Amino acid sequence: MSRLIVISNRVSAPTADQPGAQGGLAVALTAALREADGIWFGWSGETGETVAPKFETYDGVTSATIDLPEQDVEEYYDGYANRTLWPLFHYRLGLTEFERDFQGGYERVNRLFGEFIGPHILPDDLIWVHDYHMIPLGWVLRQRGLTNRLGFFLHIPWPPTRLLTALPDHRRLVEALFAYDVIGFQTQEWLETFHDYVVTQMGGSIHDDGSITVGGRTICAIACPIGIDARDFIAGASSPQAVATHRRMIESSIGRSLIIGVDRLDYSKGLEERFNGYQRYLETRPEARAAVYLLQIAPPSRASVQSYQDIRAQLDALSGRINGAFADIDWVPLRYVNHGYPRDVLAGAYRAARIGLVTPLRDGMNLVAKEYVAAQDPEDPGVLILSRFAGAATQLDQALLVNPYSPDDIADAIERALAMSREERLARWKPMFANICNEDVNWWREQFTARLRGA
Ligand code: F6P
Repeated sequence: MSRLIVISNRVSAPTADQPGAQGGLAVALTAALREADGIWFGWSGETGETVAPKFETYDGVTSATIDLPEQDVEEYYDGYANRTLWPLFHYRLGLTEFERDFQGGYERVNRLFGEFIGPHILPDDLIWVHDYHMIPLGWVLRQRGLTNRLGFFLHIPWPPTRLLTALPDHRRLVEALFAYDVIGFQTQEWLETFHDYVVTQMGGSIHDDGSITVGGRTICAIACPIGIDARDFIAGASSPQAVATHRRMIESSIGRSLIIGVDRLDYSKGLEERFNGYQRYLETRPEARAAVYLLQIAPPSRASVQSYQDIRAQLDALSGRINGAFADIDWVPLRYVNHGYPRDVLAGAYRAARIGLVTPLRDGMNLVAKEYVAAQDPEDPGVLILSRFAGAATQLDQALLVNPYSPDDIADAIERALAMSREERLARWKPMFANICNEDVNWWREQFTARLRGA
């Protein structure tokens, strides 16, 4: 059996310092690595001189991380990954920064990863590279003479051709993808926008079996939506921690309906628009207003990037304005929390919520939507309100789908969800629950690695 080598910017394999599971993706990849005697390579998250990778084997899984010099972190991670590719791929041209130094740093760090990882690869290893931080890595490894099967999975959207062509050297970036044998996208939509680029900008052709030829090179491109570790999450929802959280939430709600949002603090998550939609609900339904409250959990991320500092300041101000305008002596309409919680605590909070409000402006998938569905009481499930621009909307189409830019759409959906009969809630929830169980993270991993093996 070939070994599996996983490469991603962040490594979430368990270590002696952090032995617990780090989320569905980590659990699934860790299980695959354990079975296939593999290695998970990536950045340590630390700055410092890059020396040999630090190997650690814990609970049967080996991880190998390198530190990166400060300038590389600024140009590669903060710069090209998070100030150029992230906003552009999330359709935010106005936030996209085009700095040559960023592109230089990005390519330099990808070469660095190639240099440090290359010597540890055996000839029949399967290599699976993840996400926009590492697009050129396959090409770098090919330059080093590697002939292994190479796969790449993009966790975020693929942008429309007209947007992507705003990126200087866009063709160089896309050409690098042709070093892989298999590339995966979250949805058919992103796969089709990739096809469009290949046909219109590269003169490539798409074949009936889904393979793509450009010049003399044919690769396979697939849509393969990532799932959650459904079984584990459902079990977590009945854990003592989840049950205690559920009780705590119900008690603190004193009969009011809880609406919950949980997101990394990122402008792509549509938090400002969500708050505006909630405010519209409060303004236009004064009689119903005190019967609900919104709990928004939003742990900060990428805090050294200006656009993230800006969105944080805007949300601080907006949440203060909403509470100032609507709160009463015994009711606060918006509980806004800037730190994260363990998975089982979240599962208990999701279960206590009558509505899961998941309204990103654009999202590759969105696993919170799936976790909310997984955590529901099968006898009395809540209602998922989901952005039609999240990848998850293609699978969770029984949610109340909304335009996240429209405050009226969000306000109407809240009203409809609160009034929804148990019968309709069950009819909507059941197919979504079946989907997250059938197309879970292990299914996703198997779909991708089977194609990678060439099956
Ligand atoms: O899903 C997109 C993604 O960028 C992942 O690659 C990443 O692990 C996650 O979001 C969190 O982002 P960051 O690693 O920048 O905190």
